[in-house]
Amino acid sequence: MPESPGGGDAGAPPQATENENPQTERTAAGPPVLSKNARKKLAKQQRFEAKKAEKKAAAKEQKRKEVERKRKEWEESLAGVSKEEKAKLIESRRNLRKERMEKRSLEKESKRDRLTVARERGQNVVVDLQFSHLMNPNEIHSLVQQIMYCYAVNGRCASPAHLWLTGCEGEMDSALKRIPGIDKWIIEKENRSYIEALSNRKEDLVYLTADSETVLEELDLKKAYVIGGLVDRNRWKGITLKKAEEQGIQTAKLPIGNFMKMSSSQVLTVNQVVEILLKYLETRDWKTSFFAVIPQRKRCQSDSEVNAEDIIIEAEEESEQNDDITSNKKICVEEVPSNS
Ligand SMILES: C[S@@+](CC[C@H](N)C(=O)[O-])C[C@H]1O[C@@H](n2cnc3c(N)ncnc32)[C@H](O)[C@@H]1O
Repeated sequence: MPESPGGGDAGAPPQATENENPQTERTAAGPPVLSKNARKKLAKQQRFEAKKAEKKAAAKEQKRKEVERKRKEWEESLAGVSKEEKAKLIESRRNLRKERMEKRSLEKESKRDRLTVARERGQNVVVDLQFSHLMNPNEIHSLVQQIMYCYAVNGRCASPAHLWLTGCEGEMDSALKRIPGIDKWIIEKENRSYIEALSNRKEDLVYLTADSETVLEELDLKKAYVIGGLVDRNRWKGITLKKAEEQGIQTAKLPIGNFMKMSSSQVLTVNQVVEILLKYLETRDWKTSFFAVIPQRKRCQSDSEVNAEDIIIEAEEESEQNDDITSNKKICVEEVPSNS
């Protein structure tokens, strides 16, 4: 999923100046030009986008071929059989479809029930959408995709969180309104900011931000955790910390450093943070949650080596007990984390 930036209720939203933003330089003639570093970053991003588009097209083509293959297979199975057998095949296919639809509708119903319970007594997780003025259309699009993803993942959880989208105004609101079926989502969608919408619970608000000095130890059901709805590749470093401090609300960072080394910064995307919180709600274990969600490429090489080493040691211990090399090999292969 793509990455992304935030503004504030406390006065005017912070704006990046050229001095604050190392990506631009001013030429003698005047207009800002991209620095060498920023050009490199931009080229890297463009390569990434091109690759992503290529992958998407390939997946679409693969799907089309699969549908075509199945259609042919079906037609072949009907050809050359008697009229009665043909009718039987069609009937059994119809029944299978019906069963599948009933199963889907049951799943939908159970998802609605879980989300309704979460609305009453689930962990409140707020996405602060007051940063759209700091994002370009691609970044807003990317944030909308992340929000869709968060809603889908939350709906699949056995005990989902209760999601809030606050500060839904202007461009961000128009983009959200284009999501098919969003009006049926079981969430709180607010035009107001979280500080207004949850004004009676200001002391329970905790703004999650990688720049906080406080490390989050556990999730507290009484609190509402706020995530900055921003896709900025950390152009707006510190913006959410500044906002929360100006509003006088608590802040905390995820305890990533206690469990893994990251190859660059510890700033994650909105959907990764939501997924980590959901995984933590399920497991009450940060390490499991980080390893399940943070992609391999964001982790330090040494971190995965340490992890692989741990696994090999575990497997060796097991092998000593079992004296069974085959099962030892299997453990190594199966347990190396594969979520890159
Ligand atoms: C892409 S980041 C935005 C970074 C932005 N420059 C900022 O100052 O917050 C999206 C949001 O995810 C949350 N987030 C990302 N990494 C985090 C971390 N390591 N700990 C806590 N929250 C984090 C924050 O709420 C953040 O605003």
